[in-house]
Amino acid sequence: MKYAVIGNPIEHSLSPQIHTEFARQTGIALNYEKILSPLNSFEQTVKEFFKTGQGLNITVPFKLEAFNFADEKTIVAQSAGAVNTLKKEGNKIIGTNTDGIGLVQDIQENLGFSLSNKRIMILGAGGATQGILLPLLEQGTKQILIANRTASKAKELANNFSKFGSVCGFGLEKIKNTSVDIIINATSSSLNNESIKLPKKLVKNALCYDLVYGKQKTPFMQFSQGNGAVKIADGLGMLVEQAAVSFEFWHGIKPKTKNIIQKLSIV
Ligand code: ATR
Repeated sequence: MKYAVIGNPIEHSLSPQIHTEFARQTGIALNYEKILSPLNSFEQTVKEFFKTGQGLNITVPFKLEAFNFADEKTIVAQSAGAVNTLKKEGNKIIGTNTDGIGLVQDIQENLGFSLSNKRIMILGAGGATQGILLPLLEQGTKQILIANRTASKAKELANNFSKFGSVCGFGLEKIKNTSVDIIINATSSSLNNESIKLPKKLVKNALCYDLVYGKQKTPFMQFSQGNGAVKIADGLGMLVEQAAVSFEFWHGIKPKTKNIIQKLSIV
């Protein structure tokens, strides 16, 4: 059986290692590759793959194109407006999005923080935020605050999701003396090693989670660690958990994630 992750760039993807470990653990025989798609021919690359392949993970910058490509989409993919997992079912290609569920599982099961009845702040109002909002709200959060450099984008997202729970959106400068249980950095600032100016009080006693992962702690993680965060985390656990949910979507078996997270972790 043939599976792959498709993106551009793709060389640093950990997905082949993670899925190969899941396959070994569950005794499923599969081959999982990396595919570098040219930026202008995603659809052609995917069609070619599905002539012989069963499932694809989709990463930057193709999640929106994957959404448009899928014949059918799960509810979570519809609310995310993006697809990170495709599977072939008969003549159809089904799309889902496992990123948000992966984050929820990492926070609750691996880090041991319940989301139920908690106040959560999300920094950023781009695609990453849209992808995690519904899975977070489904855990019965008390309130989600979206703070974004461009306030109008945060307000718009909050409006779109308020039918699922309490969500409000505002500009980063309005954070001031707020205190929350969990802060999630969903901006792309960490990718450029930029820091976001935050009040020290905000991170004190909070779980501070950066969706990004890498070889070093991000500026947000360093700031949080230096100012009394109860715990800091990067997005590695989310990466492994979203892979586990994709694996289950394809194979119907949920693999164990703890060992591989420990093996790859820097925190
Ligand atoms: P993604 O799909 O990763 O979410 P995106 O849709 O381009 O990417 O969104 C990037 C987000 O990071 C936006 O919320 C952006 O803020 P703006 O809406 O004001 O552009 C935020 N962002 C990026 N760099 C930032 C920085 N240095 N400080 C604060 N916010 C930043």
